[in-house]
Order: sequence, then structure tokens, then C-alpha cells
Amino acid sequence: MDKELKFPAGFMWGSATSAHQVEGGNNNDWTEWEKSENRIEALRLQGLDPQNFISGRACDSYNRYEEDFDIARQLNHNTHRFSIEWSRIEPEEGRFDDRAMDHYLAVIEALRKRGIEPIVTLWHFTNPIWFARKGGFLNPKSSEYFSRYACYVAQKLDGKARWLITFNEAGTVYAGFAYLLGLWPPQYKSLYKTMRVIKNIRKAHRSAYKAIKSTSHNVIIGTTSMLTYVVYGRRFYEKIIGRLFNYLRNFYFLDKTARFHDFIGVDYYHVDRIRRFGNFLSEGYEVLPKQQLMPEMDWEFYPQGLYDVLKDLKKRFNKPVLIAENGIADSTDQKRSKFMTEHLYWVWRAIQDGVDVRGYIYWSLLDNFEWAKGFEPRFGLVEIGYATFSRKIRPSAFEYAKICKTNQLDIG
Ligand code: BGC
Repeated sequence: MDKELKFPAGFMWGSATSAHQVEGGNNNDWTEWEKSENRIEALRLQGLDPQNFISGRACDSYNRYEEDFDIARQLNHNTHRFSIEWSRIEPEEGRFDDRAMDHYLAVIEALRKRGIEPIVTLWHFTNPIWFARKGGFLNPKSSEYFSRYACYVAQKLDGKARWLITFNEAGTVYAGFAYLLGLWPPQYKSLYKTMRVIKNIRKAHRSAYKAIKSTSHNVIIGTTSMLTYVVYGRRFYEKIIGRLFNYLRNFYFLDKTARFHDFIGVDYYHVDRIRRFGNFLSEGYEVLPKQQLMPEMDWEFYPQGLYDVLKDLKKRFNKPVLIAENGIADSTDQKRSKFMTEHLYWVWRAIQDGVDVRGYIYWSLLDNFEWAKGFEPRFGLVEIGYATFSRKIRPSAFEYAKICKTNQLDIG
């Protein structure tokens, strides 16, 4: 039986990018790391070509954003999420570059002209070099530095963007990869440092939130978190450990800042299984059988898990939610359309069951620089030919465009 699943009126449909991943020509702590001898040597030892791991000109979207937004409009997106690059705005401590800010004002204007609502992220994994040299978010004054930058931007935006995201996945992915697992710059492996960074980022979010709210009345502010569907075994103590892991992994950062969120941004991609530990801990295959792997990331994905995550979030915080990222790396484009449809089905179900979801933002509009994994994973609705910066819309993007246009999901 064919069914038409309607989304609420005014639902936001779109896609996202971030500055470092698409703009090109950046100069921040990531660009320094990409080019550092240690990083290049580590890639060579793995038999990889370091050139594919240097963001360089990326998608050249700093210059081609109008072309990108023409595509977004053609695909019926009514929203676009992008990030402002702190290192461009404040290249040296305390020196704010008005011309760099004018660029982003032009970006917003270009979106508005096409009838697309901007969602602005202020921080998406990268730091100005001066800030990194001061210890980044380990520095006790980091919240003041961040808040000063956030206020500068908010004042210049002057209400032109209503949706602001201070931090992208800072307390989940960033703190974990950069300070606990040593995989991203500055490559620490320290639980103590991880906790300090989370604490300082929370503080930075709170002070930016309060400061911006005191002057700009029309904005709504949140953060995004990468939330995963945590799977653990059935035994009593496995449940306790599993729930504790779920809390630390997904909600620890949000818990103390929830009050300072007008909405919560959810980035949902995959399942997280508890690591096997002899006979003591199982990976929970008896609870959830092995799911499909995302082709270019090796992530096990489970659309129904998004429903559980959304319900859990409502129970804990009861706030409006924006699906700020959900996407698949699939250069063949064979799985993308189904991936989106299945996730959207569970978003729709969550809405029916009372979760206040305001929009769905696909990651990403374009193929782009996928951080430590370089240029290989292809998340884009649009394929980028990196040699010439060509843009080619993938078939799944047109499928998504129909959903955006009709504000409904047709399932057969
Ligand atoms: C990040 C994006 C990233 C995507 C896919 C999210 O963690 O916000 O920057 O490209 O997931 O890994």
C-alpha cells in the first residue's frame, strides 16, 4: 500500500557543509597539522598518498558558493547549514578582519536571495593558529576568547541569520578524537585533558549563549552532537555498563548545557557497540544483529536507531531538535536514496510520537575533505571532480529534492 507521510508545515529541508571541508585556502591548526612532517610520515608508512590528506583548495567553495547555492535551490532546499571559519575572522589574537566577515555576510545574502534559510555554525573542528598555540580549549581563558569571537560575529550578523550553532560535535567527536584517542590535532591521549576540554567548551558555549542572547533577541542558539545508537549485551551488568557508556558518549556534554540550548542539533550516522571483553562483555549481536556497513567509512548504520535516539533526547531534555547531519559516504550513489528514506521514515515516526523535530539537514551538499580520512569518502549529493572543481548532481539528490518540494515521504 502506498503511503504519503507528511512532515509538519514549515519543516526545514537542506544540506550542510563546513568551512575547512569545502572552502579551500584555509590557514588554521588543521592545515598546519595536515602539512606537518609527522602526519605526512605516518600516512606514508600506511602506504597512503599524503596529497589526498591535505585540504588545499578543497571544493573551492570560498569562490564558488553562488554556484553551490544555485544547485541547492535547484534541489528545492529551503535551508543550508555552513560554518564560519574563526581563523579567517580573527587571524591574530584580538584582530578582527571585517573584510573576512563581509564575505560571510555575502554568503548569507546569496542564500537569502535564493529563498534559503541560513544555519550558521561558529566552530566546526578548526582553530586559529594563535589560539591553538595558547593551548586551544585547554587554556582556562579559552571560553573568553571564543565568546569574544562569537559576539563579534553575532553583532555583524545583526539578525540576518536566525539559527546559530556555536559548536559542532565539540564535546563528542572533537574531544574524543583530538584529546582522548590521539587521532586528530593536537593528538593527545589523555582522559584528564579530554575532561578539561569538555569543561571549557561547555563554559564557552554558555558564555557565548548568554552574551549573544543579551544583544540579539531574534536568534535561536544550540550546539550539535554526534549521537550514536549504543548497543550492549543483555546481562544485567552489561546493561549498567552500556547505559553508562551511552551517557558519557552521548549526553555528558549536553547535560550541563541543556539549559542554554534553544534547540539541540543531532548528527546521527551509526551504531556504537561496546567492545568485547573476553566473556565478560559482548558486543550485543544477540540484541542487534550486525547491520549494513557504510561503504567508505566502515560504519554500521541503523536507521531505526535514530528514532530511539530522538525519543531518548526528548525524555532527557524535551527541547526542539534539528537533525543537523545525517548522511552516507557512497561514491556509487547506490545506497544514498534508500539511506535517506529510511532515516526520514524514523524521523517522521518520532514526530508522530511527539518529538519536536524542526528540520532535516543532509550531510553533505558536496563531496568534501573528510578530516583524517582525506578526500576519499564521498558524502555529497553533488559529486566533485577535484581536478577541475566540476559539480555533478547525483541521482539520489533528485530523489531527495522531491521530498523537499512536497514536504512528504512517499513509501510504497
Ligand atoms: C562532522 C562532519 C563530518 C561528518 C562525516 C561529522 O562528524 O561534523 O564534519 O564530515 O560527520 O564524518
